[in-house]
Amino acid sequence: MDTPQYQSYFLTNPYFSAVIKQNPIYQNQNYFKTMCGIVAYIGSKQAYPILIKGLQRLEYRGYDSAGVALLNGNLNVYKKKGKVSELLSFAHDKDVSATLGIGHTRWATHGKPDDINAHPHLSGNGRLVLVHNGIIENYATLKTALQRLGHEFISETDTEVLVHLIEELQERENLLLEEAVRIALSKVHGAYAIVVIDKEDPTKIVAARKQSPLVLGIGNGEFLLASDATPIVEHTKRVVYLNDGEIVTARRDGSFEIKTINNEIQAPFIQKLDLTIEALEKGGYDYFMLKEIHEQPQTIADAMRGRINATEGWVRLGGMEEHLNRIMNADRLIIVACGTSWHAGLVAEYLFEELARLPVEVEYASEFRYRNPVITEKDVVIAISQSGETADTLAAIELAKERGALIYGIVNAVGSSIARLTDGGSYIHAGPEIGVASTKAFTGQVTLLTLMALEIGYKRGKIRKSEFQRLLTELEQIPSKVEEVLKINKAVEYISSEIKDSNNALYLGRGYNFPVALEGALKLKEISYIHAEGYPAAEMKHGPIALIDENMPCVIVCTNQSAYEKIVSNIQEVKARKGVVIAIVTEGDTVIKNLADYTLEIPDTAEPLTPLLSVIPLQLLSYHIAVMRNCNVDQPRNLAKSVTVE
Ligand code: M6R
Repeated sequence: MDTPQYQSYFLTNPYFSAVIKQNPIYQNQNYFKTMCGIVAYIGSKQAYPILIKGLQRLEYRGYDSAGVALLNGNLNVYKKKGKVSELLSFAHDKDVSATLGIGHTRWATHGKPDDINAHPHLSGNGRLVLVHNGIIENYATLKTALQRLGHEFISETDTEVLVHLIEELQERENLLLEEAVRIALSKVHGAYAIVVIDKEDPTKIVAARKQSPLVLGIGNGEFLLASDATPIVEHTKRVVYLNDGEIVTARRDGSFEIKTINNEIQAPFIQKLDLTIEALEKGGYDYFMLKEIHEQPQTIADAMRGRINATEGWVRLGGMEEHLNRIMNADRLIIVACGTSWHAGLVAEYLFEELARLPVEVEYASEFRYRNPVITEKDVVIAISQSGETADTLAAIELAKERGALIYGIVNAVGSSIARLTDGGSYIHAGPEIGVASTKAFTGQVTLLTLMALEIGYKRGKIRKSEFQRLLTELEQIPSKVEEVLKINKAVEYISSEIKDSNNALYLGRGYNFPVALEGALKLKEISYIHAEGYPAAEMKHGPIALIDENMPCVIVCTNQSAYEKIVSNIQEVKARKGVVIAIVTEGDTVIKNLADYTLEIPDTAEPLTPLLSVIPLQLLSYHIAVMRNCNVDQPRNLAKSVTVE
């Protein structure tokens, strides 16, 4: 409960209470979140190197400015526009000694990316310093109220308002920091993960979360806090994933306490991290993306591990067992996702319809959430997400949940918001995906969705035993076939050098390879900044064919067995207009070799499994083109790895 003094001041303050109650946005539970990465340390070691390394690991969450605050008697705040490397250069001759510190890497929402808007932000009296990931929706109201009380602001951020609000409460009510934070948070609307420290009290860190992730690492006489576990893992494997509405106070004496915003003490649920440091390093590759492409034989095998046995003839997804009846008897499967995960969902549409004979709708989460869709309790929603933090996907899940559908998650990031919000689900076990362009997550998602479709299809009696067995055997061979595909890397590199200066590209595919064409085009766009369109091959003659001339590379995925002649005709149509054809073909194909300008061969497999192989050359193609164009492969402009804003 709020303290009486607090109630007397804030609840009776007409400005604060009236505006907050009247504004409908404050009832809005949508996921208005920002990206940004947070890291904090208290203990006996030097905080600065820990913060810097942690921020570099979190740069996938945003990289337009970075900053740290270090407390060593003095409170030193260093922040800089640009990447963490800019901050490092800026701070190289500064005093960075401290055993308590907080750091932030930003993806701007309120206020342009510059040194002033960069985090951490100081309170007006210079005593408190805070980092924040999220959006304070009522920041304008709070700012005006605080200005009336004499507060002056130097940045354009919502975050600075929050630290001033905490300061106001701490000073006026003479509260402990954790109490001032708790009461301040009960007055803000929106999403946040925050960490705050007090110059006058170097014995503790206070942190809190609502709709933005925050993990507490519990070390030996030390604590770390971070937006995900990657900055924590090399210091400790013991973590607590904070829940929404929880505030943690971590003390230098090794004790910590978690309370809710309603002031109830919570028993911490301490988990052991299943993450290795090697998984977070480039391991000899120039870029994380290239490493992640090459990890796919392993990650696909990991996605299947313990879930399939072709010899004994079974597939079993542990997470699905409890919900099997409901999924098998669903009226409809609705798949919600964004970006690459949406493309995996499109592959699943073909898989579930063909193998399980279940009707499927694949929805962009961003459209679905605002469309007032018809959803019933007989529907099953499959939410696909690598990060498990995508704002639109989260909101789509909330909506479907409210309307009674069962929600099943296909997620990579363990303990993420989507993993926690769904009724059940399966992890893809691809390990951390750090390159912004998703690669191994896509093949992991498709693998899981294939397993799901096979299990459901077989149990529904829609696949004959012999066919089921054949597909399981083929699926078990996919990791070694991906190894084979990776051997064409040099050939892909050569083709990349031939087309790297194009301004546009067309990606075509039919059936299972149509989503692969979309995925190939997305990869090229996002990391090489070449405009690319993915199309069902037969749709080409309804418009895009007008674009084809000798300057238009057309990447055509032609491994289909069922529509082979039709795709051959599509190639002829492109060649007749002087388009440059790069064809992905099945090993031993001679017909297309004679038509296309370049061919890339991949091993033969069962048609429903082809996306797991045919996507690999497209990933490599975009990678090499981006490198040749001097693009930042892992951190392309304007993008971030987890899109937690709508
Ligand atoms: O984490 P999610 O799978 O929910 O992310 C969805 C998209 O933001 C993501 O796939 C994005 O399109 C990638 N950058 C594509 O490479």
